[in-house]
Amino acid sequence: MKAVVLCGGVSPEREVSLNSGAAVAKALADFGYEAELCDIASISEFIKSWPEYHAEGVFIALHGGWGEDGRIQAVLEAFGIPYTGSGPEACMLSMDKTAAKLIFANAGLPVPSGFIATRGEEGRGRAEEYLRKYGKIIVKPNGGGSTVGVTILSDIAGYGAALELAWQSEPKALVEEFIEGEEATVPVMESIDGGIFALPAIHIKPKSGFYDYKNKYTSGCTEYICPSDLPAETNDRLAALAVMAHRSLGCRSYSRVDFRVTPEGGLYVLEVNTAPGMTATSLVPKSAKAYGLSFGEFLDEVARFSFA
Ligand code: DAL
Ligand code: MG
Repeated sequence: MKAVVLCGGVSPEREVSLNSGAAVAKALADFGYEAELCDIASISEFIKSWPEYHAEGVFIALHGGWGEDGRIQAVLEAFGIPYTGSGPEACMLSMDKTAAKLIFANAGLPVPSGFIATRGEEGRGRAEEYLRKYGKIIVKPNGGGSTVGVTILSDIAGYGAALELAWQSEPKALVEEFIEGEEATVPVMESIDGGIFALPAIHIKPKSGFYDYKNKYTSGCTEYICPSDLPAETNDRLAALAVMAHRSLGCRSYSRVDFRVTPEGGLYVLEVNTAPGMTATSLVPKSAKAYGLSFGEFLDEVARFSFA
């Protein structure tokens, strides 16, 4: 079987995607696939050259922007090119953190309070109210990933600068109550026979600060405990909520659901990643391994789900 691994692109997560692409291509090749990397600059060029690849499908290792927000998935779909992961609608909803949270809340999932801030509608008064009520807020691009453009504030003084930083990525900033506690993530997987299940939860413990870009992608900066050492009852709830979140957005094949865990064991769903990182420090491969699937076996499942 041959797969073209799409990576790179033009989003702020380009470097992460190049690393994901290389790791995916290598693991697929080690597993017996023919895997060709494609650092995609233009979707129309790619569509034109697709017949020359003689491949069964496309493995999407793109993160952020049009690689993860459904646009490329819609084009591939229109041209009848099989691709891994979720379809255009689910990708679009997942990348829009606010839209996704509305759907999560509708499905009964716990989410942090938040609002959108745009130029001309900065929401300073609401931010002040949030700071009084919650103590801290987090400001991020509404459709971003990898913690690019994210600021945590305990004072309104930095609000303007935090918005400007988030707006460098896109015109919509998301302002949320900051949930004190820790980070956990749960990959969700669908098997070809129709089963859907959570892979083991990962308890994420940055050695210093919060789980930002540096702590995500620098080896040794974060401790990953998988299977998670959180109480069994918390792990069970994480698994159940992750599957609900995946389903509520209509995701397909696989995803990774990110959570905050409060010291009291309260859980908040932050977002679903439809094209989660696949780098050497990434989370899905770790969880798959704890479940008993090598990286190659996991990727083979994902590819066969979509290409078969
Ligand atoms: N956005 C990055 C790639 C992740 O979720 O893993
Ligand atoms: Mg994300």
